[in-house]
Amino acid sequence: MLVVGARPNFVKCAPVMAEIFSKHPRIDLTVIHTGQHYDLEMSEIFFHQLGSPRPVVNLRVGSGTHATQTLAIMKRLEDLLLCGWFQRPDIMLVPGDVNTTLASALCAAKLCIPVAHLEAGMRSGDMTMPEEVNRKLIDHCSTLHLAPTPTAMSNLKREGIEGHYTGDTMFDALLGMAETILFREQFVREKFGLHNEERHVLVTLHRPSNVDNPIRLQRIWKAINAISDGTRVVFPVHPRTRVALGKHGNDAAINLVQPLGYIETMALLRGASCVLSDSGGIQKEAFFLNVPCVTVRTTTEWPETLSGGANILVSEPEKLADAVLARVNDGELSRRIAGISKHDFGDGHAAQKVADLLER
Ligand code: UD1
Repeated sequence: MLVVGARPNFVKCAPVMAEIFSKHPRIDLTVIHTGQHYDLEMSEIFFHQLGSPRPVVNLRVGSGTHATQTLAIMKRLEDLLLCGWFQRPDIMLVPGDVNTTLASALCAAKLCIPVAHLEAGMRSGDMTMPEEVNRKLIDHCSTLHLAPTPTAMSNLKREGIEGHYTGDTMFDALLGMAETILFREQFVREKFGLHNEERHVLVTLHRPSNVDNPIRLQRIWKAINAISDGTRVVFPVHPRTRVALGKHGNDAAINLVQPLGYIETMALLRGASCVLSDSGGIQKEAFFLNVPCVTVRTTTEWPETLSGGANILVSEPEKLADAVLARVNDGELSRRIAGISKHDFGDGHAAQKVADLLER
C-alpha cells in the first residue's frame, strides 16, 4: 500500500508506481490519497501529467493544524485498514516528510505493518521545521529505509539505522519527463508572456517560516520587487502564500500565477537564469537542470546542491535581491553547475531499485 497526499509526494512516487505496474506483476499495489492537498493544481494535475494511476480511495482530510491533520489521517487510514475492504498490506510505502507521511507511518507501525520510507535519512538539523520532526519520527518507525543520497545513508548510520541507497526518484521523474518538458517549453513561456530568449527569475515560497510571519513576508516581498526591477519574475503562488500575501499580491511588476503543474514548473525552471525558493524539491530540480538557486532558508537537507555554489542559503531578506541578481548576471555559472557531478542522486534508475527492494 502506497500512501500519498501532498504535492511533492506525487512526483517522488510517479516513477515508483510506473516501475511497479510495468515490471513487478507480483506486487499488488494499492494507492491511497489522504487528501492533504486537494485543489486541482495541487494534486490531480500531477497524476494527469505524470501518467500515474489514480488512488483507489481519497480520505479527504483537507487542511488543518498539524495535530488536526495528522490525527485525521491516522484515524481515517486506520479505519480503512481495519474495515476489511482491503487485504492487510505486507508493507506500507510512505514518501518524503509531509504530515501525510508521518501519519501513515505511525498508523502502520502501530498496526505492526512494516513501513518502507522513500527518501529516508534526510536531515536539515533544524527542528523548527515541521518536516524535520516528521523525517526523524518516520525513519525511527520504519523498517525499510530507502535513501536517495550517500549523505542520507550517513545520516541514518549516525542514528543507528541501516539504509539502502537507491538514488533519488525525483531525478528519475525529471529524466523521464525531459522530452515532454522540452517539447512544451516554448508554449509555457508564451503562456507566461516570456518572449524568445528573454531570461527570467522563478520564485516559489511556501515555508511557514517565510510566509506565516507578515513582517518577514513583507521584507521578502520587497526583495522580489527589487529583483523584478529590470528582470522578469514569474511567481506561481502556493495557496498558503496567496492568503498571506493578501493585497500585496496585486503588484503589477511581478507575474503572480496560480500553482502550476509539474511540466509547467519544470519548463519555467529550465529556462530561468536563477530560482529563488524555499522548497526542498526545487533546490534539487534546479541542480539537476543546472539552474542557479538561492534558497531562502538557513539550512538544507540537500547539501549536495551547495557544491560549487550551485545553490546558496540566504535567509536575510535584505540580502536576497543582490544574491539573485549576482547569479543572474554571472553568465558562466550555469555552465559551471553543468560540470558538477549529479552522481550522488543516482543513475536515473532509483525507482527500479526501490521496487526491487519492496518485492524482496
Ligand atoms: C505541505 C508540507 C510541506 C510541503 C508542501 C508542498 C507538511 C507539514 N508540509 O505544506 O512539507 O513542502 O506541502 O506544497 O506536511 N491549501 C489549499 N489547497 C490545497 C492544499 C492546501 O488551499 O490543495 C491551503 C490551505 O489553506 C492550507 C494551506 O494551503 O491550510 C497549507 O497546506 P498544508 O497541507 O497544511 O501545508 P503546505 O504548506 O502545503
